[in-house]
Amino acid sequence: MNDSNAVHFYKPDEGHQLRHDPFKAIVAPRVIGWISNCDPDGHVNLAPYSFFGAFASFPHIIGFSSEGFKDSIANIEATGEFVWNLASKPLAEKMNWTSATVPREIDEFELVGLTKAPGVNMAVPHVAESPAALECKLLQIIRLKSLDGTPMNNWLALGQVVGVHIRREFLKDGLFDTAAAQPIMRAGYRGDYAGIGEMFEMIRPLPCSPARAASTAAFNARMLVWNAMPLITEVMSEILRGRIDFAHCRDHAADRFATGARGIGCRCRELIRLRRVGRVLLHGRGDLLHARRCFFETAGLRHDARKPGRNSVDGKHQPADIVIPRGR
Ligand SMILES: Cc1cc2nc3c(=O)[nH]c(=O)nc-3n(C[C@H](O)[C@H](O)[C@H](O)COP(=O)(O)O)c2cc1C
Repeated sequence: MNDSNAVHFYKPDEGHQLRHDPFKAIVAPRVIGWISNCDPDGHVNLAPYSFFGAFASFPHIIGFSSEGFKDSIANIEATGEFVWNLASKPLAEKMNWTSATVPREIDEFELVGLTKAPGVNMAVPHVAESPAALECKLLQIIRLKSLDGTPMNNWLALGQVVGVHIRREFLKDGLFDTAAAQPIMRAGYRGDYAGIGEMFEMIRPLPCSPARAASTAAFNARMLVWNAMPLITEVMSEILRGRIDFAHCRDHAADRFATGARGIGCRCRELIRLRRVGRVLLHGRGDLLHARRCFFETAGLRHDARKPGRNSVDGKHQPADIVIPRGR
């Protein structure tokens, strides 16, 4: 592995000594930011940007980078709004055509024959044919700088997602079916794209030391105490894999619950379907009630709101918010 001949190393400043610059083939595949936006006069614009990414979960923050101060950046700077549209395989050709350099007043939706779906929070329409679209309010436009501090002609627009549109046909059991949506991604050289091949699941290691996992006598269950609500899907995955039976959340940060609750719901359905789990317990106060209610509803379980907090089961004192019987 230490054989230097086995590796082609280069400094980008000094040239790659290859047929073509491999940078975009290495950082690939990249989800396409198919960005709709409007100018201040209401002219609609749509263009693909593969320097695109998601940067934060709560709230959702996404961004794309423009090589040059292109129309999309100018419009978004002026109006403070944009929409990300999922570029799917059936829409690939049309997506590609929306990258054509055309006069600013040309509406790419009309140019390529796409339907405009009206925004809920904004004047910017989204692509009705797209499996999903994210309405975003502009947070920042950052002019990128190189190592020596030189301002580049590259502009990163970051937006917070304020509305999510999902075509119902791509929702299965409350989960967005990414494979069915067939996102296309930019890969490799000039005209290379990638689609979704095989999808597989790999659960992240829990950011929690084994010392913090303890068993509870009342449940004879493996218990995990965790602190951050955003980790709920990981916690649920652990339950799903049979590594813990019991989860207790300490974090009651209200603003994180909406997304967390959906996470719980999805996982719970899987739990029930897979019949793997002995007991699942979610415990909390105040705002967590909402998350629990979603959890119960999605799981098709009855939620007794009159019994907040602690219940008594089998004469034992326990914070029993939900118990899924073994084998259900
Ligand atoms: C798949 C694809 C990805 C692209 N990614 C980028 C990108 O990341 N940054 C960029 O500046 N241009 C990118 N382009 C080119 C722009 O889409 C093109 O310049 C477009 O005309 C810009 O439109 P606008 O001026 O209306 O914003 C891409 C083109 C395609 C087809």
